Amino acid sequence: MKKRRPQDSFVSSTEFVLPNDTNTLNNLMGGRMMHLMDIVAAISAQRHSGRIVVTASVDNLNFSKAIPLGSIVTISAKVTRAFNSSMEIHVVADIEDNIRGVHARSNDAFFTFVAVDQNGRPIDVPEIEPETEEEWKLYNGAIRRRQVRLILGGRMKPEDAEDLKALFIPNTQG
Ligand SMILES: CC(C)(COP(=O)(O)OP(=O)(O)OC[C@H]1O[C@@H](n2cnc3c(N)ncnc32)[C@H](O)[C@@H]1OP(=O)(O)O)[C@@H](O)C(=O)NCCC(=O)NCCS
Repeated sequence: MKKRRPQDSFVSSTEFVLPNDTNTLNNLMGGRMMHLMDIVAAISAQRHSGRIVVTASVDNLNFSKAIPLGSIVTISAKVTRAFNSSMEIHVVADIEDNIRGVHARSNDAFFTFVAVDQNGRPIDVPEIEPETEEEWKLYNGAIRRRQVRLILGGRMKPEDAEDLKALFIPNTQG
């Protein structure tokens, strides 16, 4: 399978925060943001793989800033690394409030999607070939993030996580 660039999976979607999307403090509801991020990440994973994709896990979803009613929110996503059937997607949300003059990063998260066939069975996806310094940084870190999430999800034994043993097994040398 031909390798693909992170840029090939880039997705950006801009939303206007309306009253139906807000909580009693007139800020965007967290669940609504999670929904928007999941959709953008899914499109990115599907763009990379050309397959049906399902959400396998979400980690490090941060809500750093409240997003007031009337804000403009742009959610962007790119695949950082592909493994066999799974892909890690980095999703960020930026707010733009032209009236109050606020431009800031409000959220970021790593989503894992798995490409599946028509019967829901995992299927291999193309590898990623990073180009920029930031893409290489995310690509190199993805292996450790994968090990953490698989250990926490009960799908990998800490002793099999070469890069992380020391974090989970205190007596491990080197
Ligand atoms: C995700 C899913 C397809 C994995 O299927 P599975 O039979 O457990 O498959 P495997 O154990 O062979 O794992 C397949 C891949 O998923 C990855 N994976 C499985 N569970 C994971 C988790 N919790 N977090 C991250 N990756 C996970 C594995 O690491 C593996 O990756 P690789 O192929 O790149 O090495 C399956 O658990 C599923 O369908 N879950 C429900 C998905 C869903 O409904 N999402 C919400 C709606 S879109």
